Amino acid sequence: MPWIRSRDRATPEPPDRPAGPPSGAPPGSRTIERGFFDDHPRFFETSETSSYPWRLNLRHAAIFDEYADLFPGARVLDIASHDGRWSLAALEAGADSVIGIEARPDLVGHAKANLAAYEPRGRFDFVAGDVFEVLASERPEVDVVLCLGFLYHTLRHTELFTRIRQTSARHVVVDTEVHRSPEPIVRLADEGVEREGNAVADAYTYGDTVLTGRPTLAALDLLARTQGYAVERLSDWDGLLRDNPEANQIRDYRIGRRATVLMSAAFPR
Ligand SMILES: C[S@@+](CC[C@H](N)C(=O)[O-])C[C@H]1O[C@@H](n2cnc3c(N)ncnc32)[C@H](O)[C@@H]1O
Repeated sequence: MPWIRSRDRATPEPPDRPAGPPSGAPPGSRTIERGFFDDHPRFFETSETSSYPWRLNLRHAAIFDEYADLFPGARVLDIASHDGRWSLAALEAGADSVIGIEARPDLVGHAKANLAAYEPRGRFDFVAGDVFEVLASERPEVDVVLCLGFLYHTLRHTELFTRIRQTSARHVVVDTEVHRSPEPIVRLADEGVEREGNAVADAYTYGDTVLTGRPTLAALDLLARTQGYAVERLSDWDGLLRDNPEANQIRDYRIGRRATVLMSAAFPR
């Protein structure tokens, strides 16, 4: 089809480096000796989705070390809570309570078992269902939303942020694949619903394929601003990768195809 732009004529991709500015952290200060998941090894067994030790431990540092002040006393919503890996991390970071929403019931079962094993105080609740349907009907009120590994599994970004805003959350941590371009664009992709880590079918799905969109950082910034939030900063993946050179299974962060972003509410309390 001649009107479709061929790949070689497309805008060249930026050079391979982590998204965000170069690290300002002193060399060695981001070294991980023992990560969160080394003390919670059940999570290596209860997921088939990127449950590699270095990857999980560095993602933990990029969220819970960098934004440690958000969690003490907070009510947290964990979108696409999977096997409960980040719900537990939030509670251990001091959160008062966590609600996880996850579409795959078997993963909800794993999450409940994992948190029962590691978190005897029972300050968690996991809801099995489509995040859009659950947030439309249950309207939880929270302080912090974790939107980790989900944004690029949907094209319903504005709807998702509308629902997030309706929770009254002051902070949203987004960890997402990003398309590498300076333009505020969303790159479409199709995704099969069979894989555990992928989108699930919904009312807009035809067959077994979901249309998804991977935003650029500029698109993420625009999405945040038009939905009442502002991008505050990006996690320091440059420093984490510099200080942990033996880390593997994190090429997407290394080349800037994935980022961890803190957004804060710009609307009045
Ligand atoms: C790539 S995994 C991310 C898991 C975890 N949040 C993380 O960052 O490590 C995506 C998760 O989203 C879930 N999911 C996909 N579509 C969903 C939907 N519409 N509502 C709720 N969960 C969904 C999948 O079942 C899967 O557990």
